Amino acid sequence: MKGIILAGGFGTRLYPMTTNISKQLLPIYDKPMIYYSLSTLMRLKIRDILIISSKEFINIYKNIFKYSYKLGIKISYLSQNYPNGIAESFIIGKDFIGKDNVTLILGDNFFYGLNSGILKFEEFKKNFGAKIFAYKVNEPQNYGVINIYKNNKIKNIIEKPKKPNSNYVATGLYVYDNNVIKKVTKLKPSKRGELEITDLNNLYIKEKKLEAIFLQSGSVWLDAGTSQDLLKASQFVQTVQDRQKILIGSPEETAYFNNWVSKNKLKGIISHMPENEYSKHLINLL
Ligand code: DAU
Repeated sequence: MKGIILAGGFGTRLYPMTTNISKQLLPIYDKPMIYYSLSTLMRLKIRDILIISSKEFINIYKNIFKYSYKLGIKISYLSQNYPNGIAESFIIGKDFIGKDNVTLILGDNFFYGLNSGILKFEEFKKNFGAKIFAYKVNEPQNYGVINIYKNNKIKNIIEKPKKPNSNYVATGLYVYDNNVIKKVTKLKPSKRGELEITDLNNLYIKEKKLEAIFLQSGSVWLDAGTSQDLLKASQFVQTVQDRQKILIGSPEETAYFNNWVSKNKLKGIISHMPENEYSKHLINLL
């Protein structure tokens, strides 16, 4: 299973914070936002990861993660010329995906409490279709809304409907079989000029090949794309970290948890960090 983090876009909802910085580098409490999506993929045991961002920022990502190989993961980088839509990830990432299946996460999505056993990729059949993660929210009209039949089957997904029919929305975490590479070529740009992830998911729904995994109410999902949600995510991370003396969204912690890095190697990695709360948390872990 390959993984893609989509970390481009204009970040207009966070202007003027995003005038000179990629949105996914803004902090959620004590780490860059992208640390959280990277750690989520790592929790799902994905090690071969592509980061897609705009040309002006891609080198910053390369720099931030230049030692990521020490964590037992491999990160590749590609740029998106213009924010032509989330589904363009599979056109840009075609060669990276190769013959594999792929999980896409949006770089501004924050997940907490995802059970690492939620996906057993090794059990996926060859043409399993697509899996999305549904979450119940108060204001569904801001997202891709999942319309459900009475028997819990999915009718379709509607992107930001004015009058949503359900409170369940598609989060920014998607798993596809290799057919996604072919399917994405069938998409036409929407009215807003984007290759929509929702249109792609609806293609899978038409073929009865999309499964929605409903995240439990104990898990947390936030889209940190607005100032309000960015603050909410920061407050959440601060509260849980301080209370439990743990780190949320730390690639180093996740690599250690996954046994991808030994105690000694982690000690070595920490020794290159400045002495601060982050490195203290990691030392505490050991
Ligand atoms: O967060 C979940 C929602 O994400 C879903 O419920 C929606 O169905 C889905 O369309 C998407 O909605 P958003 O309105 O949040 O999408 P947005 O345009 O904000 O893009 C999400 C992230 O992807 C954002 O961090 C920027 C990045 N992006 C977006 C586009 C369109 C890119 O890197 N390139 C792009 O071309």
